Amino acid sequence: MTELADLATPALLVDRTRLERNVASMAGAMRDAGVALRPHFKTSKCLEVARRQLDHGAIGFTCSTPAEVRLLQDEGVGDLLWAHQPVGPAKVAFAVEALRRGGLMIGLDSAESAAPLSAAGVTVPFLLDVDTGLGRTGVSPERAVETAVRLAALPGLELRGVMTHEGHLGSYGADRTGLEEAGTQAGRRLAEVAAALRVAGLDCPIVSVGSTPGATSAPFVEGVTEARPGTYVYYDSGQVRLGSATLDRCAQTVLTRVVSAQRPGTVIIDAGVKAMSSDGLAGGSLGTVCDPSGRPLEDVAFVNGNEEHGYLTGSGTARLRVGDLLRVVPNHACGTTNMWSGLHVLDDGRTVDRWPIRARH
Ligand SMILES: Cc1ncc(COP(=O)(O)O)c(C=O)c1O
Repeated sequence: MTELADLATPALLVDRTRLERNVASMAGAMRDAGVALRPHFKTSKCLEVARRQLDHGAIGFTCSTPAEVRLLQDEGVGDLLWAHQPVGPAKVAFAVEALRRGGLMIGLDSAESAAPLSAAGVTVPFLLDVDTGLGRTGVSPERAVETAVRLAALPGLELRGVMTHEGHLGSYGADRTGLEEAGTQAGRRLAEVAAALRVAGLDCPIVSVGSTPGATSAPFVEGVTEARPGTYVYYDSGQVRLGSATLDRCAQTVLTRVVSAQRPGTVIIDAGVKAMSSDGLAGGSLGTVCDPSGRPLEDVAFVNGNEEHGYLTGSGTARLRVGDLLRVVPNHACGTTNMWSGLHVLDDGRTVDRWPIRARH
């Protein structure tokens, strides 16, 4: 057991009670919705967290990168979805090897990305990636049938269903009603695409939505069969702003100390963008500043960061002294995870364990 005051800063903390509550409550909500839960692994990249999600009934995981797929396959976790187009010779070679190991589906949206996999002579279970509003990857619903027919005709390609990432819900800000409506709409559009594929004679057992802000809407649409939220294991300041969680559900914080206070109105901490990631900087904040117990300091803002320095402003900085400990709830838990090789498990104000974070870039 280590007291927070004895840890070298900055340090990444995960509150065990909050983590376990988040894992259990999302599993319960998805059970109530009658859908399977396939959490995105990118949020934690931590096997100790993944095991808790599996213990609560997750069917497997969603991955973004080859390293995430490999780590989970090496751990013997089956039923993985690699929700990223494997383009380029190195990624195709990895995908072929991973597909041969079994228990893997790939998200695809074009014949261009599917053809090299087909040519490798391997069986490729896949979900058709459909754009329901984010405007990132994914075919438009109007082009879904034509694309699915084309992909399913390629040797080795086996259509298992459809997927979408309703990441555009993040643009609704504090308009939770608008966000919920857009989440329901995304689920409906995907379920309609699945129905159209079936009319065209294709099998489409999996209808997979996926996001934390959408987890209260899209999975509850009739016809949706699985959900892939990721951020919910920790939540973060971004999700609090969207109304997906309250601050007391946020499990991940960065422990930091005030290291300099030379100018009135500004103090400098030892957590910069290499501790937080720069996610959210464009929105004017790198996270919610709290005291060591996790209570937010409403009059202190984390407005900027260099690599290893953070800039706090606001009237509350007048109380802060060099050496003071603070905790910051990051804007984006997933980006923050990727900055760290390990996390300290926090229990009742002390750290009780250290878990590795793996499969980072
Ligand atoms: C394809 C896909 N599925 C699921 C998720 C999980 O969404 P969230 O981070 O909102 O939980 C993401 C997040 O980027 C994603 O890209």
